[in-house]
Amino acid sequence: QLQKFILAELNNLGSIQDSRKLFYTPISRHLDQPNDSLVLQSSLQGLQSKEMIDYKNHETYTYTLSDEALDLIKNGSHEARVWACLSTDEGLDPKEIITKVGSTSAKVGQGRAFKQNWIKKVDNKFFKNVLDIEDVTVNNLVYIQAHNTLNDEKELSDLKKRKLIKPKKLLHFSIAKGPQYSPELITFETDLTSDMLIDGSWKNKSFKKYNFDAAGALPQGGALHPLLKVREEFRNIFFEMGFEEMPTNQFVESCFWNFDSLFVPQQHVARELQDTFYIKEPKVADVSDKEYYNKVKTTHESGGFGSIGYRAPFSEDETKRLVLRTHTTATSAQCLYRLAKQEGGFKPCKLFSIDRVFRNEAVDATHLAEFHQVEGVIADKNITLGDLIGFMEVFFKKMGMSQLRFKPAYNPYTEPSLEIFAHHDGLGKWVEIGNSGMFRPEMLAPMGLPDDVHVLGFGLSLERPTMIKYAINNIRDLVGHKVDIEQVEKSEAVRF
Ligand code: PHE
Repeated sequence: QLQKFILAELNNLGSIQDSRKLFYTPISRHLDQPNDSLVLQSSLQGLQSKEMIDYKNHETYTYTLSDEALDLIKNGSHEARVWACLSTDEGLDPKEIITKVGSTSAKVGQGRAFKQNWIKKVDNKFFKNVLDIEDVTVNNLVYIQAHNTLNDEKELSDLKKRKLIKPKKLLHFSIAKGPQYSPELITFETDLTSDMLIDGSWKNKSFKKYNFDAAGALPQGGALHPLLKVREEFRNIFFEMGFEEMPTNQFVESCFWNFDSLFVPQQHVARELQDTFYIKEPKVADVSDKEYYNKVKTTHESGGFGSIGYRAPFSEDETKRLVLRTHTTATSAQCLYRLAKQEGGFKPCKLFSIDRVFRNEAVDATHLAEFHQVEGVIADKNITLGDLIGFMEVFFKKMGMSQLRFKPAYNPYTEPSLEIFAHHDGLGKWVEIGNSGMFRPEMLAPMGLPDDVHVLGFGLSLERPTMIKYAINNIRDLVGHKVDIEQVEKSEAVRF
């Protein structure tokens, strides 16, 4: 209604200088709330966005009187009251003025009356100086009471300062025709539909312009969990260093691949129930490569390749049991086995994986029963412990850790084995970041890898660097039902 009215008025008048005048026209009486400037403004904005009009805002002020001002109108200004209580021949001293007009009027009025030369002071006594006065303050207030404003800006600001009048901001508008002006309200299409294209009606339609300044709706997309962000960063480092990713999409492994192929003795504590989750159903898996199985069995029982083995019976029942893999080294073992069997003989390779492993551990602030392992394996002729250390230095440097220390350690499948420590500059201390070593001949030879092929391997958790990177102290803030989803959405991408 209002928009139609504005377009019609523009048609009559050409332009509208002052929107306040609009509403004295007869037609405006039929409008709801035409005098509400905010309602008018939103109608104008709508027309402006269609370029049918151009409008500008103008601010004006109106003034209302305070209670004190109303009192002044009734009883005269303070200066007039002081003047009125004096006479031309008999002087009053300041105290007597206060008794007559009250202390407020005496205080404010004396000064103002003096300024206008209405009164004079002789020997500390006050006298009238003129016979007639014009009470300008009251006259101004009366005018404002009738007109809500005054033409004298200086007087206005003076009255405002004295808190006799209160300003109120008003908005009005000047309105001109815009480039798309028409006396009729055009409705713009917001979508070009297939129907319009088919029946050709798009030719006669007007389309709404794109508003490129509009703030877009926030996308409700998913966000990567910090662990996945750090995993991405690790993957990129591996790819950059020429690694291939191992297929780790198999959480259940046989003890054969999880332990036996890695030369972990069948009596090893890691295999006990309190450390490893065993599968109830199905309980066991068959060994597929009998020949390889026999070699592994013999190596465990009596050794070979310069080793004396564990000299203990090797149980087939034990090797067939199914477990939730306790490390991704189970996958590395299978990849190395396939590497030994591949056609065309051995070729050097670098392999990595980042995936989930399971350990029957007491859950606390830094341990869960499942976590992610980052694992790397390099197989080549005659590589040495020096290569392992050298590689670690390059690899961890890419993650921002340039100071490393190595400590001798023990793994059943590597010799020598090294624990890796890095100086964490943020925490100001050495932290253990990983485990590594040179895979044993007892593991590699039964697979059929040539004698001079040496393999180095290392593993670390994904959770630890993630917690350090995101300053998370409790693993339950990272994984599980207590994770703050909003925090996940907001967490920044990592850059090592
Ligand atoms: N499997 C080891 C672990 O779970 C990591 C590792 C992998 C160590 C390869 C040496 C070689 O900690």
